[in-house]
Amino acid sequence: MRNILVTGGLGYIGSHTVVELIKNNYTPIIIDNLSNTEFEVLERLESITNTKLNYYNIDICNGKALSEVFTKHQIEAVIHFAAFKAVGESVEQPLKYYINNINGLNTLLSTMETNNVKNIVFSSSCTVYGEPDSSPVNETAATKRANSPYGRTKQIGEDILQDCKFLNTVSLRYFNPIGAHPSSKIGELPLGIPNNLVPFITQTAAGIREKLTVFGSDYNTKDGTCIRDYIHVVDLADAHVKALTFIKENPENKFEVINIGTGNGLTVLEIINTFEKVNNIKLNYSIGPRRPGDVEKVWADASKAKLKLGWEAQLDLTEMLVSSWNWQLSLKNK
Ligand code: UD1
Repeated sequence: MRNILVTGGLGYIGSHTVVELIKNNYTPIIIDNLSNTEFEVLERLESITNTKLNYYNIDICNGKALSEVFTKHQIEAVIHFAAFKAVGESVEQPLKYYINNINGLNTLLSTMETNNVKNIVFSSSCTVYGEPDSSPVNETAATKRANSPYGRTKQIGEDILQDCKFLNTVSLRYFNPIGAHPSSKIGELPLGIPNNLVPFITQTAAGIREKLTVFGSDYNTKDGTCIRDYIHVVDLADAHVKALTFIKENPENKFEVINIGTGNGLTVLEIINTFEKVNNIKLNYSIGPRRPGDVEKVWADASKAKLKLGWEAQLDLTEMLVSSWNWQLSLKNK
């Protein structure tokens, strides 16, 4: 059986994780309220996996509806993706984030407790480190006050999970997920103007946006632009499957945080130049002012993921940027 409840299972990372779960003989039970995705993703997942999927249109804050899913299916573990994630919007509308991300987590955890389900993989973020004192950053680094309410919901979420001693939690701190499934049937679907770098690049290359602005070139980095650790979403999805194995093999585990990144820091200009080269496209971009709240540089020490999960990134930057572009091209034909 091995039923895994996947909250937010039709979102960007959730959908790629559903594919990896099925590959590994799990049965995903998807809940998603379609607040930041489309129903069509379900059909696309069914086509990639050649499987009829269990799906419920449920809001994570709806405890009654959630309980019904736990009654209907014997859930072995939960992978919790359902949350809002736009940093800028969280500054404008903090309560939207605290209500959805924190109340949603609390509702989920109390439903798990009532139903005697203790295993959970949590979507956390490198944003919990704030601007780290040094990179690569490992899991023992102090978490600093996050730059946004979004970041604080991840910090508070980790605190709640750590306090709930009935749980066996793995909290995965993602660095910057990019790329798309090689089938080009699923990928990131930003609604409106993208905030993140790679969707903005692909939309600019496709002519949907006129020009990409590089946010700042006066940082203390080799070319003056910010450094991040970009990780292929398919590798990231695989880390969730390995986290489930870890939980199963370590039933006494209470709370473990694990970085998920490649360990390579790349500048914004390196991403742009590689995108142009591997896809043979000229990108219209210019240098603009810094974006408030941006961290100068952060990349992962990913050695704990290798040690504890037996996981390390397999896919390189070319695969990330080619799949992102192919996904963008496929959207034209939707
Ligand atoms: C941030 C968070 C991450 C969170 C994500 C969700 C940090 C370190 N990371 O990622 O945890 O999950 O938001 O949205 O806080 N850039 C441009 N032009 C653009 C867009 C971006 O130059 O049009 C630059 C940014 O300044 C940054 C890099 O590209 O240096 C990556 O930006 P983005 O993709 O938005 O991700 P983060 O801000 O790193």
